[in-house]
Amino acid sequence: MSEPTAPLTPSTRREFCARACQAASLAAISGVAAACGGSPTSPSGSNAPAMPIINAAVAGRVVSVPLAGSALAASGSAALLQTSIGAFVAARIAENSANVFTAVCTHQSCTVSGFQNNRFVCPCHGSQFTTGGSVANGPANRALQQFTATIADGVLSFSA
Ligand code: FES
Repeated sequence: MSEPTAPLTPSTRREFCARACQAASLAAISGVAAACGGSPTSPSGSNAPAMPIINAAVAGRVVSVPLAGSALAASGSAALLQTSIGAFVAARIAENSANVFTAVCTHQSCTVSGFQNNRFVCPCHGSQFTTGGSVANGPANRALQQFTATIADGVLSFSA
């Protein structure tokens, strides 16, 4: 049984057309995104696991991270350091050695926050950087800016 329908007045017709056009646009966008294999905001991003985050203390411009019990406690680990003067990525290379870089991707300035297969990974377009900071996979074409880091008395520190 069908219900009687009211005739479309000019204003309801206009409203109907506007809504139909919005629905068609959304369908088209999601179809394109699905075809590209990603969302409109990350056309070729990465699924690398996010690094653990360490909120690090800053005195002057010196960042200090006590290592015992932290995400950087073991050699081979990596972490994203959140500080009041910016974000950094750190890789614990050995017992008394770590490499620290800015977390700002050299491609389009996203925060490099992933780590997989011993590489830092940018979530925006999938650029990968070695634990030495150099580009392992584009689209980035410049190394991450490095900061000289030291480990002494179980504390990682660097001046930024
Ligand atoms: S901003 Fe594009 S890969 Fe990092």
